Amino acid sequence: MNAPLKINPLSAMDMQHEIVTLAVPQDERVWVPQAPGVWFRPLMLNTVSGGWFNLLRVRKSGVLSRHRHPMAVYGYVLKGRWRYLEHDWIAEEGGFVYEPPGEVHTLVVDEPVEEMITMFNVNGAMIYVDEKGATIGYEDVFTKIEMCRAHYEKVGLGADFVKQFVR
Ligand SMILES: [Fe+2]
Repeated sequence: MNAPLKINPLSAMDMQHEIVTLAVPQDERVWVPQAPGVWFRPLMLNTVSGGWFNLLRVRKSGVLSRHRHPMAVYGYVLKGRWRYLEHDWIAEEGGFVYEPPGEVHTLVVDEPVEEMITMFNVNGAMIYVDEKGATIGYEDVFTKIEMCRAHYEKVGLGADFVKQFVR
């Protein structure tokens, strides 16, 4: 049997810092406006592999976005429910969702909606498309960081507030 591996504490100091935070923040300013009635709360903005963890919060009904992503997306519903027009299932509170790469789908929140909150781990990018599937925009970890910086500066937290979520 091999001897246990000895870890040099100096090498551990060179590692990235962990992130430990209350997922649903107590300070409302941490929520970054995405669209009217839609916010996101960054949890981990990954500039190494390209992707992010965030909470998506929605307080309105209707179509939120039609999009495609080139890599996998994972979701966990904390509150409320949502669905994709292209599928017959509903993501319910407490539910887990895996979205395969490549699929185009349209996120909808139905009436009555008080509040929907889902944690999404998006890898790669969100590619927004129109009804015909033509690309009309995108988001990646770098556009997310820029949105956060602009919002946190505006609400008085300072642009660098986002840095605690960036790795
Ligand atoms: Fe999606």
